[in-house]
Amino acid sequence: MPAIDRYAVFGSPIKHSKSPQIHRLFAEQTGQSLSYEAQEVKAESFAEAVRAFFAAGGKGLNCTVPLKELAYRFASHKTGRAERSKATNTLALQADGTILGDNTDGCGLVGDLLNNHRITLAGKRILILGAGGASRGILGPILEEAPAALVIANRTVEKAERLAEEFECLGSIAGCGFEALAGRQFDLILNATSASLSGELPPLPEHLLADKGNCYDLAYGNEPTAFVRWGIAQGAQKSLDGLGMLVEQAAEAFFIWRGVRPQTHPVIDLLDRERK
Ligand code: ATR
Repeated sequence: MPAIDRYAVFGSPIKHSKSPQIHRLFAEQTGQSLSYEAQEVKAESFAEAVRAFFAAGGKGLNCTVPLKELAYRFASHKTGRAERSKATNTLALQADGTILGDNTDGCGLVGDLLNNHRITLAGKRILILGAGGASRGILGPILEEAPAALVIANRTVEKAERLAEEFECLGSIAGCGFEALAGRQFDLILNATSASLSGELPPLPEHLLADKGNCYDLAYGNEPTAFVRWGIAQGAQKSLDGLGMLVEQAAEAFFIWRGVRPQTHPVIDLLDRERK
């Protein structure tokens, strides 16, 4: 009997990762035979753990916090979207033995917005809160949708400015601090800070969200995040968390590895029901 194809997610902390469940559901749905496990891997042992995984016959890896930049540097070659984000969440063993690095986070987010929630980005005024790794991963795919304006606001202003400069070749983008948002309005506000994880919120001015505007937190949890609650309080048409993005980025990774596109709706619905 041929050995079963092995996949895994590496990260720290990894205990609560939903990726094993998601990929097992995709495998079941598409009739693929594979295994997918979660492995606690810290930055110090990343290179060694990845080499050992592929040497033992592993076919593909997801890498999450805090390993995405390390995974980017580890990959022998990268897709354009991974190059732009300088971060990699998916590693795939190629037929010639090399390792391809990709970043499916941004297309996961855009796919969730467009296909699952019918929230379009073209011509919209979009605000991204945060200028760290999560923000970097989504800028390219958002700019590809041609928003009217994209603003990155961050606590450390220089980080927002630098990030905007890095991506300005792709479209209209600017960086600023939170104070500079007073008096402005956006059709879509995305939270890419890690503030939600500790129940905090960036300091946001009143009336930041335009009429019929939407809010989206890249983070997700069993309870609505602080930012999702903020969006509801601001009268957002939709105030969503990142569960759909999680499943969509996983589907894209599954497609890269297996050449088959799983259906995401049944998986999102199941995970959503489980947290209620
Ligand atoms: P990630 O990979 O999740 O993006 P990161 O690279 O450490 O993690 O970035 C975290 C982001 O959340 C940063 O933009 C950070 O702001 P600073 O650059 O000023 O540190 C932002 N952040 C974290 N906690 C925050 C808080 N309580 N209020 C506002 N911004 C916060």
